Amino acid sequence: MLLTSALRREAREAPVSDLEAVSNYGREKPGLIPMWSGESDLTTPDFIRDAAHKSLAAGETFYTWQAGLPELRQALSDYHLRHFGKKIDAEEFVVTSGGMHAITLALQATSGHGDEALYLSPAWPNFAGAAGLAGVLPVPVPLVEDDLGWHCDIERLEAAITPRTRSIFFNSPSNPTGWTADVDTLRAIQALARKHGLWIIADEVYSLFHFDGNRAPSFMDIQDPADQIIYVNTFSKNWAMTGWRVGWMRGNTELSRTFENLIQYSSSGVAEFLQRGAISALEHGDGFLKEQITHAEVARDMACRILGESNRVRFSMPTGAFYLFFQVEGVKDSNRAVFDIVDKANIGLAPGRGFGAAGEGYLRMCFQRSLGQVEEACDRLYHWIAHNS
Ligand SMILES: Cc1ncc(COP(=O)(O)O)c(C=O)c1O
Repeated sequence: MLLTSALRREAREAPVSDLEAVSNYGREKPGLIPMWSGESDLTTPDFIRDAAHKSLAAGETFYTWQAGLPELRQALSDYHLRHFGKKIDAEEFVVTSGGMHAITLALQATSGHGDEALYLSPAWPNFAGAAGLAGVLPVPVPLVEDDLGWHCDIERLEAAITPRTRSIFFNSPSNPTGWTADVDTLRAIQALARKHGLWIIADEVYSLFHFDGNRAPSFMDIQDPADQIIYVNTFSKNWAMTGWRVGWMRGNTELSRTFENLIQYSSSGVAEFLQRGAISALEHGDGFLKEQITHAEVARDMACRILGESNRVRFSMPTGAFYLFFQVEGVKDSNRAVFDIVDKANIGLAPGRGFGAAGEGYLRMCFQRSLGQVEEACDRLYHWIAHNS
């Protein structure tokens, strides 16, 4: 106790995750269907794991390139050409220890103690948590939900800018809402950033999980070279690699040299065998990725159909990512509800409160699991709603 009080205030007061609390409570329950975390139930495909095994077997166990293996940076460049139609120099990419690490470095690069960073809320909580730890004030700006779905209110966002604001963290498609920004919204954010000299930290980790037949609009579609944009991304979602902790960030070749230094002084680089797996994901993973995207759309439709049959459930149809963010009539305290759902329906959901005050009253389900599990979970939830909420 005494020792804790001697720690930095920001470290002591870092928020405890609401999601961890419920998953620790229910993790070991027999038969529980876990839909609280943002991951698929598939293990990483063999062609990726084999590449990592091979690397280890070959003795690739030494320090390696801080910014990432040249082959991996080149494979990232090729991936962006295939999926985003952009020719990007391999040196613009640096390899990080997961998306979370990329976000932390983007924050470190753009802001420090006493600065402010804006983000849209409800939001995956880690950006705000990492900002707070760095002494940066995370400022949530609520997304608006109406009969047409979620929207970003640009005027509200601009009204939240102060002389201390350094960046806008912008996540689309969004975790947890499934909202996808259209290109006009991206242009409006770009205009705000230009006008106020802000950085955009573009979290487009779910870009390809977009359900209108095309990838989601990206800042890459509208960016000029002078725009202050840092992209943060991860291998976690596209290739079922959440446990690998490999991601990337992208600025331009000049920024990469600074980012490389930030890597040096944080993780000192990603293990070579993990990077070999990541190369294989990029070079051979388009087929797997396509299946995952198709699967997510089918699972989304199934979840929306079953829960939509209850006249006590309300949600905006997610257009991207792999989450359903919904309200149940009568549920006000989402933390209490998710514990009760573990006890009575044996399903693991994330409480909306964990995504900020704007998420209270909502529940989040990750539907990127086998269709059998999605159907079973939605049926159980349907009954919980009918009898308990
Ligand atoms: C919006 C968003 N960004 C970034 C990440 C980070 O991914 P990871 O740290 O697993 O690579 C996640 C993970 O859930 C996410 O949902």
